[in-house]
Order: sequence, then C-alpha cells, then structure tokens
Amino acid sequence: MMSPILTLFYFFLFLKIATCGVQNNNFTFNGFGGAKLDLDGIASITPEGLLLLTNATRLMTGHAFHPAPLRFKPPAGKTLSFSTTFVFAIVSKYSDLSSHGMAFLVSPTVNLSTALPSQYLGLFNSENCSDAANHVLAVELDTIENPEFADINDNHVGIDVNCLKSADSRPAGYYSGSATDQFERLNLHSGEPMQVWVDFAGGDMQLNVTMSPAQMPKPSRPLLSATVDLSSVVYDQMYVGFSSATGSSNHPSHYVLGWSFMVNGEAESLDYRKLPQLPRSKSKRKPKHIVVWLLPVAIFTFALIVAATVILVVRRRIKYAEVLEDWEQEYGPHRFSYKELYRATDGFKDKELLGIGGFGRVYRGVLPASNIEVAVKRVSHESGQGMKEFVAEIVSIGKLRHRNVAQLLGYCRRKGELLLVYDYMPNGSLDKYLYDQTRPSLDWARRFMIIKGVASGLLYLHEDWEHVVVHRDIKASNVLLDGELNGKLGDFGLARLCQHGSDPRTTRIVGTIGYLAPEFARKGKATTMSDVFAFGVFLLEVACGRRPSVIEAGEHVFLVDWVLENWKAGTVVATRDQRLGLEEERSVVEMEMVLKLGLLCSHPMPEARPSMRQVMQFLDGDKTLPELSPAYMSFSYPSLTQNQRYDDDCIVSIPTSVATMSNSSLKAR
Ligand SMILES: *[C@@H]1O[C@H](CO)[C@@H](O)[C@H](O)[C@H]1NC(C)=O
Ligand SMILES: *[C@@H]1O[C@H](CO)[C@@H](O)[C@H](O)[C@H]1NC(C)=O
Ligand SMILES: *[C@@H]1O[C@H](CO)[C@@H](O)[C@H](O)[C@H]1NC(C)=O
Ligand SMILES: *[C@@H]1O[C@H](CO)[C@@H](O)[C@H](O)[C@H]1NC(C)=O
Ligand SMILES: *[C@@H]1O[C@H](CO)[C@@H](O)[C@H](O)[C@H]1NC(C)=O
Repeated sequence: MMSPILTLFYFFLFLKIATCGVQNNNFTFNGFGGAKLDLDGIASITPEGLLLLTNATRLMTGHAFHPAPLRFKPPAGKTLSFSTTFVFAIVSKYSDLSSHGMAFLVSPTVNLSTALPSQYLGLFNSENCSDAANHVLAVELDTIENPEFADINDNHVGIDVNCLKSADSRPAGYYSGSATDQFERLNLHSGEPMQVWVDFAGGDMQLNVTMSPAQMPKPSRPLLSATVDLSSVVYDQMYVGFSSATGSSNHPSHYVLGWSFMVNGEAESLDYRKLPQLPRSKSKRKPKHIVVWLLPVAIFTFALIVAATVILVVRRRIKYAEVLEDWEQEYGPHRFSYKELYRATDGFKDKELLGIGGFGRVYRGVLPASNIEVAVKRVSHESGQGMKEFVAEIVSIGKLRHRNVAQLLGYCRRKGELLLVYDYMPNGSLDKYLYDQTRPSLDWARRFMIIKGVASGLLYLHEDWEHVVVHRDIKASNVLLDGELNGKLGDFGLARLCQHGSDPRTTRIVGTIGYLAPEFARKGKATTMSDVFAFGVFLLEVACGRRPSVIEAGEHVFLVDWVLENWKAGTVVATRDQRLGLEEERSVVEMEMVLKLGLLCSHPMPEARPSMRQVMQFLDGDKTLPELSPAYMSFSYPSLTQNQRYDDDCIVSIPTSVATMSNSSLKAR
C-alpha cells in the first residue's frame, strides 16, 4: 500500500514533469556572469564572469556542470546528435613546464567527489579508471604525457570513452584551411584563449573535435574525427560540463570564457564581444592616471607594512630557514617551503611520526592548501657533494608515474637536511605485515599480487621509463601499501645520495645486508642486475616470512642459502611462511615458482639472473622458469661473500632487528 503522502509526492512529481514538457535542448553562455552552474571542488565564477575551474592550488579538482541534465534520447526515428563549442585558457605561472589539463565531459552524474586530481583530470579514480559502468564521454585537453594512459605527447587533444586511455588523440592544433592546408600547432597552456568544437552525429557515429585560436572562424577540417559508438555510453539524460585538475608541482589556472551546447542541432556561435577578459590582459589595459594616483598611497602603505612586519619576518626567517641555491631555480615548482611542511606535520610532532628508516624519520602530514595527506621524510645530509645530481634525479623521478611506484611530490632543503614529500600510504610498509605479529598476516593471493606489482614497478624503472633508474635498495620495508594493500616501491635513489661520500676517492657501499649482490659488494657499482638480486631476496622474504639475514651463534645466516639447501633436498615448499595455508593447488604451484624465481634472481653471477622483463613473464605465467643450473646448486652463498671485506666507511642501512649488530662483527667477515 502506498502511503497517501508518497502518492501526493508522485503526483506532484508527475505534474512537474508534465508541465515542463520538453526539456531545454540548448543553452549559450557568453561569459558566466550570473549563470547558475553546478560547481564543485574549487571551481568558481569570477566577478568578471569567467568560469575558473581550478586556480593555482596544488592537487585539486574543479567541476562545473549545466545545472539541469539534458535529454540525450533522440526523437523517434532519429539518431542522437549534439554539438558544443567553448573558449578556454590554461594560464600557468611556468609556461614552459607541463601541467595538468582539463576536459569537456558528458556524464550521468554531477557528483565526482571521489575523482582524483593530477593525471586523472578530476574524471575518474584509480579504481574505476577504465570501467564501462562510468558512462562518461570526455574530450581531454591534456598537457602531460602520461605513459600509464599511453599519451602521445604532453600537449594533445583526446577523445576518452570511460577511460583516460584515449580512443583517439592528436597533438593540439588546427588545419589552416588555406590551399596547402597546413597543420598549425597550438600550445594548450600558453595562457591564450582557444576555441574547441565538439560535434557528434549518431548516424555514422562520427565524433569530430576541432580547435583554433579564439576568434578565428571554425576550421573546416577537424583535428580529430573518430567513430565512436555512444549508444552504450549515454543514457537518456546526461549532464554536460567541464572538469580540470592540478598536479603536485605546477598548478595552472583553468578558465572557460564562453560555452554553448545543443542536442539535435548545431550549437549557437559564441559572441566574442561579450566574452569576459582573462585577468592578465585586463591588468595591461589599466589606465595610467590611476597608477599615478595610487603610487604614493601604495608606497606609503608598503613602507608601513614593511616596518611593522620586518621584525616578525626576521624571526620567522630563522624558524623556517631553507637552503636554496641558484641551480635550483628551475626546480621551483617541485619545491615545498619548509613552512608548508612544518604546518602540514604540525611542527614535526612525535604523534605524526610514522617510522624511522635507514635514512631518516618519516612524518605524516596534511598539506594545508589542498588537504592532501603526505608522508614527509627528513634525511640528514651535508649539502654539497652529490646534492645537485640527486635533486635533478628526484625531480625527474617526480615526473614518473606508475601505479606501483610511490609518487614523489617534491622536496625542500635546509641546512644539513633534505626533506622529501611522498604520497601518504595508509597501510605503511610491507615488512610490518611480514614480521609484526600484531598485524594480520597477508594471505598468499595478496602476497602474490604485491610481488607482481613490485615487479612491474621495477620493470618500469629499469626499462620502460625515459632513462634507466636503478633503485639500489629493494626490500620489504621499502615496499609501501596503499589503502587497498597494493604494493608501491618507495625510497629509490636515496642510497645513491648517501653513496656520494665527502671524499670522492672512497666508495661507500649503501644497501642493506642480505640484499647486496656479491658483485655490488665487491665493486660498489649498482646496476639493474644488482636490483634483480635484491628483488630475488625480496621474493624469498615475502614467501618465507623471514628476514634475509639473521645472526645465529655469531654467524650470518642468509635466507638464500637456507632456501637453496631446501631446494636441493626437495623440501622447498616447507620453507614458506608457516602462517600461509595453501589450500588451493594453484597457490602451491605459484609458491614454488616464486621461491625458484627468488633463487634464480639472487644467483651469485649477474649474467645468470633474468631481466625484470623476463621476471614479469615468469610471474604472469607467459614463460616457464628454466631449471637451476647444476653449477648454481653447488654454490654456497656465504662462501662467496664470506671473504668480502667491508671497509670502515661502508655505510649499510641495517634493518632495525639487526641494528644491534656492531660494526666490528661486520669487519670480522
Ligand atoms: C533553444 O532553447 C530555447 C529555450 O531555452 C528555445 O526557445 C529555442 O527554440 C531553442 N532553440 C532551438 C534551435 O531549438
Ligand atoms: C583558489 O580558490 C580557493 C577556493 O575558491 C581559495 O580558497 C584560494 O585562496 C584560491 N587560491 C588562489 C591562489 O587564488
Ligand atoms: C557524492 O558521492 C559520495 C560517494 O559516492 C557520497 O559520499 C556523497 O554524499 C555524494 N554527494 C552528494 C552531494 O550527493
Ligand atoms: C567513477 O569514479 C568517479 C570519481 O570517483 C565517480 O564520480 C563515479 O561515480 C565512478 N563511477 C562508477 C561507475 O563507479
Ligand atoms: C566530421 O568531419 C568530417 C570531415 O570534415 C565531415 O565530413 C563530417 O560531416 C563531420 N561530422 C560531424 C558530426 O560534424
């Protein structure tokens, strides 16, 4: 039985629909002054009537939608068509640096509250990034080359259907339409207003995207013309709007100046005379006499403010003092101010301390401007030697994006100290789950997933990125777990910074005992192969739930040795973590494969180890593992390392459990 109130409600609802009749099928905004848009994130309409999607704030999203959904259901006997045009501008403080872009979108919902900033453009998040359930069509104006989404360059226009991997994309620009029909490139984040047209005709399912500098007539040849089947994407009612996102380093402002839209027809042309001006060009036209009149007042006020604040500033200077050298100018956007980090971590209070690692203390923090959670690592280091190379490397690593590599957001330098800012990983590091008995153990399926994740992250660093990055310190405590327990590699490169000693003639070995490849311990040169060695030890560590080296009766006992002994004896599966059940037959096969792969990777001879690409093929089951060679079977790992001399200045990041081990016990070996 329906309650009377509910009946009444439905009646009015019906009445409302009935009286509204046909919904709006078109709208035009020549400027947004007084427009009622559905805004969220940091989107706003400026007093000048500009739609400002995201302003210069780090890691934010902004959305703006036409407040009412539009009827995308075509009239009987017809197919859907729509057309839209808008003028936009991406204004960046650093126009030579890439930044994140924006998108026009057709979406079933205006609630994109869980979408992520930076490379996700405020459209999706890491879970539903290519989910057909999204029902989202977007035209992206993307200013970053993101290998994860197979982007073609860092200045392109793309058609995205439910996914940031574009169905089709082209470098931004237009065809001049003259006799030669030359292609003219456009720079998306030049700060200049540009116009985009998006036209869809359902009959031949053709979606055209055209662009040009603002105020130019529409080029007759579209930039993109793709066949897109939208029948399974659009519902009868859809919202249309814009999304944009800023990243961690460069954060531009995204503006829309005007916008028109029409379903089943051609969108009305924009009236350029009515479009609002961008702030920059407005200030240029400021009449001179106002400046003349304002000048004395401004100088006086300024002098007052300076006098009043000088003492305050000096005191603050000391508190928030940083080291900034000339060569760092170009890394400006990757710098965090110490003050920002100080505030984020509540003054580096102990209650925010996440842990103490081999290289320093790590604090949790929340960036004041964007509310993003971060982890801040304080590394003590004398500036000078190696710092320049290191900062160049971390900044370049900061541009690297992979789902299994912890994102480095930026850095800050103080006297004798370097601060690194990373994405915050709520579940901490993997070693806690392996050794801390108070934490729940991870089942095999989860461990196997983490292993595959770390392998793909490392493969990316070794082979798939612009240049080869050697991690140098792979171990369970450097694998971080995000909210869904996905593994991400952290802390790369740090070992290298510490390896640059104060005296360039000495070589210091930096790594962790038990993970050091023999040839690395001998020559001190880290390579991708010494990374593979450490990865092999890591595999054994995860499968066995044991530390790579323990001291028993004053002797190092290496996990690799013990597993190898068991392999020879045919009892290798017994070396597994006793907390692992292995109910399924598949798990036993996988476990055996991982242990064997661990042995193969930690082969004493670098030439005998597989590359990370091969490792990935083994883990994916695309290739079967070769047998361990008889020669390897007769090797004894300690016999190779036992005679190794560790010099006095060998710095080794020591796992906390063996931190009691003295330097002399090392030297004795
Ligand atoms: C555009 O929408 C208005 C109502 O908002 C309507 O009166 C007009 O006929 C529409 N134009 C076209 C071409 O459909
Ligand atoms: C950006 O916009 C937000 C919200 O509207 C505001 O709080 C912040 O001050 C703005 N930042 C800048 C740099 O304009
Ligand atoms: C938007 O969605 C989120 C999660 O999906 C939900 O928590 C939130 O309440 C929604 N917001 C609105 C305004 O509907
Ligand atoms: C996909 O993610 C976005 C952003 O988190 C969210 O708004 C949207 O509702 C999600 N879509 C689905 C189908 O879960
Ligand atoms: C797309 O562009 C092609 C080539 O210029 C043109 O023939 C076609 O009519 C256009 N389609 C739409 C929907 O504008």
